[in-house]
Amino acid sequence: MKLFKKLMALSVASICAISLAACGGSKPAETTAASSEAKEESKAAESVSEAVAATGKDAKDIKVGISIYKFDDNFMTLYRNELVRYLTEEVGIPAENVVVQDGKNDQAEQTNQINNFIATKVDVMILNLVQSSSAPTVTDLAKEAGIPVVYINREPDEAEESRWAADGIKATYVGADARQSGTFQGEEIAELANKGDINGDGTVKYIMIQGDPENIDAQYRTEYSVKALTEKSGLKAEELLIQRGDWDQAKGQQIAQDALTQYGTDVEVIFCNNDAMALGALQAISAAGRKVGEDIYIVGVDALAEAVQNVSEDKMTGTVFNDFISQAQAAAKAAVSFTKGEKVDTKIPVDYVKVTKENAAEILELVK
Ligand code: GAL
Repeated sequence: MKLFKKLMALSVASICAISLAACGGSKPAETTAASSEAKEESKAAESVSEAVAATGKDAKDIKVGISIYKFDDNFMTLYRNELVRYLTEEVGIPAENVVVQDGKNDQAEQTNQINNFIATKVDVMILNLVQSSSAPTVTDLAKEAGIPVVYINREPDEAEESRWAADGIKATYVGADARQSGTFQGEEIAELANKGDINGDGTVKYIMIQGDPENIDAQYRTEYSVKALTEKSGLKAEELLIQRGDWDQAKGQQIAQDALTQYGTDVEVIFCNNDAMALGALQAISAAGRKVGEDIYIVGVDALAEAVQNVSEDKMTGTVFNDFISQAQAAAKAAVSFTKGEKVDTKIPVDYVKVTKENAAEILELVK
């Protein structure tokens, strides 16, 4: 499926609603017909370049500096590819003007990259910080240099975001609210016929495989998944184990393997803060001879194609689509708006989508 069609399938209207300026006032194209696809595609690209031209800065002259917290992350790789594709193919920025750096999970390294972006006078930066707590320092560096910043994926705290609004700082955060993804995970378990209570004792016993605990996504998904489960099911929940797996498949596998050895059939649910760790945990589940949907449940977040495929085949209970397509496109549009000197909201939210067997095939079309 072509990406433009994917965009149409997603909620373009919601991106436009949250940042009208970013959409250049253009109407979202309403088409599913293959014949009009190419026409609509060029129309959308045209509206972005017209909007850019209106300020005097042509797309071919825009320079963007992007730094991703680390390249070795499944979800952020999908995000990064879509971001670069959109900036170059849809906005029309020459590939050599879109510089993408690997933060290598090292804030000092990433801060050097940001200083280089400033020294080379990029027009805008799109940053996925290694540590979101560095946002105030990074924002000040950018502000002094007069360079706007679009933060993505790792949300700076509320005090920082309020400062942007209060002081008229050209910074924004594009991302999803992790509370929603956690809530969807809890609901996916609560909506099962037995509400996750396999042995019927009124308490759902679970293990929690966390991402990087400094990350707000990990904190909220952990908290809200259990909250939604108990609120919706009316059952109690008991945490057998919580451990950090840093978003990593191999760590997810190891944690699940050890937990299944230690707690055996007591484990009724495995909550994973993301799909990479869930895919690791699934390997441990099958190695332990357990069967998802029968004697254990497991949910993740991101909707990696392999995870969605598993959901459609009843090999995984559910996941949540972390919509990297809408996030990448909204981030690119916000960056373009900044280069035009337009006002950009301090926060541009994108919704998560619950993924269960019912809609897995449809979501797979978007992500594969
Ligand atoms: C989350 C995503 C994880 C990981 C993390 C990096 O939103 O679910 O898989 O990519 O971002 O910050």
